[in-house]
Amino acid sequence: MNLTQRPRRLRTDGVRPLVRETDLSASDLIAPVFVDATTDERVPIETMPGHERVPVDEAVDRVEEIRETGVEAVMLFGVPESKDERGSRAWAEDGVVQEATRRITSETDAYVITDVCLCEYTDHGHCGVLEDDAAEDPRLTVRNDETLDLLGKIAASHAAAGADMVAPSGMIDGMVGAIREALDAQGNTDVPIMSYAAKYESAFYGPFRDAADGAPAFGDRRHYQMDPANAREARREVDLDVEQGADVLMVKPALPYLDIVKEIRESYDHPVAAYNVSGEYAMLHAAAEKGWLDLESVASESLLSIKRAGADLILTYFAEDLADAL
Ligand code: PBG
Repeated sequence: MNLTQRPRRLRTDGVRPLVRETDLSASDLIAPVFVDATTDERVPIETMPGHERVPVDEAVDRVEEIRETGVEAVMLFGVPESKDERGSRAWAEDGVVQEATRRITSETDAYVITDVCLCEYTDHGHCGVLEDDAAEDPRLTVRNDETLDLLGKIAASHAAAGADMVAPSGMIDGMVGAIREALDAQGNTDVPIMSYAAKYESAFYGPFRDAADGAPAFGDRRHYQMDPANAREARREVDLDVEQGADVLMVKPALPYLDIVKEIRESYDHPVAAYNVSGEYAMLHAAAEKGWLDLESVASESLLSIKRAGADLILTYFAEDLADAL
């Protein structure tokens, strides 16, 4: 036996770090934060162990806890004090995200990204203005073009409050262009847009909908979020967002869509983000609780796979734990 090729030569402890292709670091991670205007104390999120909804008064403390682990970027989601048909608390100057953003950006050095969507603010839980009779007829859904005006207003109000970056997640056609226009019109030409460019209609969002109280009251989101069966369509979605001025391209969820992450990485020069969503977090926790998986190992292996597929940035509920372990 005369083997010239022995890949095992490069697997000893000394050489492994030298030949490692992919690394995780705290600077790749964005930690989601839930700010809740309906509570004055922290409320644990049952489906997402270790996460909680925090009142506006604790938003700064929460962000400082995250920064202590080395993670500097946060994504803010808001639970408003009240909801209505059009989701008007989403663009209120004294809204929950606006208020939290103002405090966090003035009192900390965190990089604040805000979620721009209506589903947490509408009483029906859909991501835009509804067609008449949508509750009775499942073929009817969100009115695209009317929703664009509202998304522009939301993004503008976040930027006015000091948001460093805005992230539209509603999969409304034209959302990036409408938001770019609204931001530029008020002089926020330097606020980048991270578009949820390829966001699938995924059952992995289940735990988040509890966390942010944004489950649709009827129907589902298949008329605006993407069909999980489609890959080519993701390129079309991304093309449109690039044309409209998206600065960062996101794929969501992450693990079940690593083929899409890779495809977008290879086809575009923009930074690519992947959202390791609530269900991806919850399932590892559930298995670890039963003693079936080692949480720290499977979490870092999962995030490494997302990095290996080509993501530059990862939004993940594991951000703090991972950064702590690094
Ligand atoms: C909607 C939004 C959702 C998530 C982020 N933004 C939920 C949805 O589309 O139903 C999901 C995040 C997660 O599951 O972690 N604005």
